[in-house]
Amino acid sequence: MTTNTFLVTGGTGKIGSAFVSLLATDPSAPIVRVATRDPSAPGARLLRALNPSTVVPTAFDVDKPDSLEAAFEGVTRLFVIAPFVPDMAAWHGTVAEAARSAGVSYTVKVSVTGARAPGGDPAPGRIPLSHWQGEQAIRSAGLAATMIRPTIFMQHFLTVPALYQPRAERFFLPTGDAKVAWLDCRDIAAAAAALLTAAPEKRAPFEGKDFELTGPQALTAAELGEMLSWVARRTITHVDGVEAFSANARALGVPDTVKGIYGEAAGGWFSAVENTLFTTLLGRTTTPFARFALDAAAQFGSAGGD
Ligand SMILES: NC(=O)c1ccc[n+]([C@@H]2O[C@H](COP(=O)([O-])OP(=O)(O)OC[C@H]3O[C@@H](n4cnc5c(N)ncnc54)[C@H](OP(=O)(O)O)[C@@H]3O)[C@@H](O)[C@H]2O)c1
Repeated sequence: MTTNTFLVTGGTGKIGSAFVSLLATDPSAPIVRVATRDPSAPGARLLRALNPSTVVPTAFDVDKPDSLEAAFEGVTRLFVIAPFVPDMAAWHGTVAEAARSAGVSYTVKVSVTGARAPGGDPAPGRIPLSHWQGEQAIRSAGLAATMIRPTIFMQHFLTVPALYQPRAERFFLPTGDAKVAWLDCRDIAAAAAALLTAAPEKRAPFEGKDFELTGPQALTAAELGEMLSWVARRTITHVDGVEAFSANARALGVPDTVKGIYGEAAGGWFSAVENTLFTTLLGRTTTPFARFALDAAAQFGSAGGD
């Protein structure tokens, strides 16, 4: 059996860490290169500790051809998680060209719900447009690839300070009564790992295609609040409205730019449930919000450590 060498860009982030942790315990023991700006940083070292004989944090800088060449040497399969850089299209173009030169046989890219060309109706915002351009860069390089287009991550409750502060009594989410099919981003890692470790004949039906990926249910903010309250065993209240969200961001001294995405969510943009890729590959549904909340209970629990 040939051992695969995987490269994952954005490998120390939320999706990347979950992906590396799955492959670090995979019985086929593939080599996993974790692209990072700093292989000696704690996040990279922690991932290496998952399996020091197969997980290799690797310096990666799209502006340094030497670093790209070294990172891609011998790579057979690629998982593209793009950082928010000013020119995401150019970033993808450079990565796709390096993958083509290295002879990568299969690529999975994390895109976004609603990725679409300029001139679409409605016209795409910056993020869906940038990801569509990234998808196009991969297609244009002639790489065999699958695009996963995920909806908003449940992990916003861990990473967006203006939405929620650890163990707070309230969360600020300007989505009104709209339902949102929040996704646990660890499910993207699971889908990508299943695709990238599959034999060519098993992944063939997914090649050259793009798939939306959401959580298993679309939920209102009030429903999220109920579940968070059950996990925390005290009431966690939903605060609605863009003004309240922005005021909370100002009080915390953090940006409120994500309000644009929550505004789209309020308009019903993220309400459809679509799990076909995931259920076909993994034989189960994506992670329910209640399970995410249970796993992150320390974030929502009482200050006394309930
Ligand atoms: N958040 C959502 O709701 C959502 C929804 C749909 C799609 N997405 C997409 O998911 C992707 C993000 O995935 P994620 O949340 O797992 O990522 P993440 O946790 O935000 O970070 C990924 C990694 O990217 C690297 N990075 C950060 N800034 C960088 C920069 N300026 N230049 C180079 N590398 C940089 C960092 O690695 P090092 O520090 O080790 O270099 C970081 O660990 C994005 O493409 C986003 O559009 C997000």
